[in-house]
Amino acid sequence: MNIEERIHAALERHFREVVSPNTPPSLRAAIEHAILPGGALIRPQLYMAVAVVSGDDAPLLTDAGAVALELMHCASLVHDDMPCFDNAQMRRGKKSVHAAFSEPIALLTGDALIVMAYQVLLSESAKRPLSAEHSNRILKMMSVLSQGVGVPNGIVAGQAWECESKVDLWKYQRSKTGSLFTAAVFMGAIVAGANPEPWRAVGESLGDAYQIADDIRDVIGQVDLIGKPVGQDAEHGRPSAAQALGLEGANLEFKRLIESAANGVPHCEGREILRAMIYKESERLVPQSEYQKFVQLAKARSTAADAVL
Ligand code: IPE
Ligand code: IPE
Ligand code: MG
Ligand code: MG
Repeated sequence: MNIEERIHAALERHFREVVSPNTPPSLRAAIEHAILPGGALIRPQLYMAVAVVSGDDAPLLTDAGAVALELMHCASLVHDDMPCFDNAQMRRGKKSVHAAFSEPIALLTGDALIVMAYQVLLSESAKRPLSAEHSNRILKMMSVLSQGVGVPNGIVAGQAWECESKVDLWKYQRSKTGSLFTAAVFMGAIVAGANPEPWRAVGESLGDAYQIADDIRDVIGQVDLIGKPVGQDAEHGRPSAAQALGLEGANLEFKRLIESAANGVPHCEGREILRAMIYKESERLVPQSEYQKFVQLAKARSTAADAVL
């Protein structure tokens, strides 16, 4: 089983365990819709890669951490798509949760997923007595995950910056997206009993790169390829890297951050595998040939427009 298959299996297993058929049917269906089959699973994959190179000596705990991370991420997407935020009708190539079910159910789905993340993290200790060492790892993971999601610098804080008149773009981006990447690499080290600090640079650089990539995709992407609406940042007047740095500036910064993430991987067995994973992900996010095609087309169009005007 590769990492992706392992995460999928854990996600399905924990869904069945927590969201039993006693759950109100619409809520159960909406939770399933929000988390399965899932998106790119980048955060749990990154987390698990760090856990594996750090020893992965408690595989069931590792699985639980991966699921908890993905559930928090899914909760943020469900809430982010709601009419009071981005009012997006599509997510992962299908209807967003509020569009497929209703606004109340979307709100409750996000709430349920946030709580479920902790239920999953605690599930191994509910099944059998854990050693003090493993219990301590769970507590540390809960603490790191809470920082990645809550206030003052987690996803919730990041989304709240959208309600302020003055916003520092990089603080906004780091909170709404980067924080969960840092949590992912930290949790990966913690679940294997390793020191998380050496992984900070990877988490922060990749997190920063990820939101810049998302901003670039919002400009150059195609709905059928990225499975969600494009042009949202301009439509909602959101601060974005593409707007702040220009498309070319944003792409340069994206590439710089990817290099910094790859170079930041601590020296360990498996370092080259992790670095290769980062480069592969960077190409998935912003395929450079597609990016160049888009820029050339845009330049040709503006030259044609200049000639006509
Ligand atoms: C989308 O995240 C939201 C951002 C924080 C940029 P992903 O691009 O990881 O979404 P999925 O999980 O693959 O759908
Ligand atoms: C995502 O930001 C932030 C979240 C915490 C969900 P966006 O609003 O740019 O992400 P997409 O484009 O909807 O996935
Ligand atoms: Mg948003
Ligand atoms: Mg959005």
